[in-house]
Amino acid sequence: MKKRIILLVTLIVVCMLLVACGGGASTEKSNSKVLRVGTNPDFKPFEFQEKDKKEFVGFDMDLIKAIGKQAGYEVQINSLAFDGLLPALMSKNIDVAISGMTITPARAEKVLFSDPYYKSGLSIVVQKENNNIKSIKDLEGKKIAVQIGTSSAMAAKKIPNATVREFDNVSSLFLELKNKGVDAVINDLPVNQSYIKTSTDSGLKILSDIISAEDYGFAIAKENKELHKKLNAALVEIKKNGEYDNIYKKWFGDNITK
Ligand code: ARG
Repeated sequence: MKKRIILLVTLIVVCMLLVACGGGASTEKSNSKVLRVGTNPDFKPFEFQEKDKKEFVGFDMDLIKAIGKQAGYEVQINSLAFDGLLPALMSKNIDVAISGMTITPARAEKVLFSDPYYKSGLSIVVQKENNNIKSIKDLEGKKIAVQIGTSSAMAAKKIPNATVREFDNVSSLFLELKNKGVDAVINDLPVNQSYIKTSTDSGLKILSDIISAEDYGFAIAKENKELHKKLNAALVEIKKNGEYDNIYKKWFGDNITK
């Protein structure tokens, strides 16, 4: 009987030790927790892939990596459809969405936004030889290409009698315009600028009429208040320590306003 009790007690102690060790190992792992980031990487210079390369690069990518590092996370980037980002956040399939995403009141009802990290706006792109479209007013009754689920799509839908064609990816917008399937593209100004600048003979031009000023923020699920606080604090920190400025200079030089 005594032997049995000793055996039992030994067993219990061994079990407790195992559990304790297991717990220890997992807290050790959580020191470099994974931050699951979602983005729609067809939005140069914010998120994109270089030709024949797998890695996701761009301003947003460098920014979230720096923020993740600052807050003690290992950043893992996932490519998603733009209109799938908020649903993915709300269903907890990702922890953060960073995708040149404009902070809007409608979105802020569903998710938490970081402090603004980039000042942007919408602009119009047309064929170089098109002299009839000079401002947003001239888009009435015209065919316009936009990315689905974006602030551009919202803006285009307000234009009287316009036919709005929605595409999954931004590169399809420019292609459709080049092929004359639409009269104009509405899309974020820095992305339009980057496209025109880096494509040889695009045959397209950006109108000087800017439709709206917008702020980008990264988004986190409403329930994830702790993470929101941590990442926002990390953003403040990298703005202070100069890292944000370095990343900004790397992608935009000195010319565009923050
Ligand atoms: N700023 C616009 C919006 O939030 C467009 C963002 C599109 N981003 C992207 N990675 N395709 O609606």
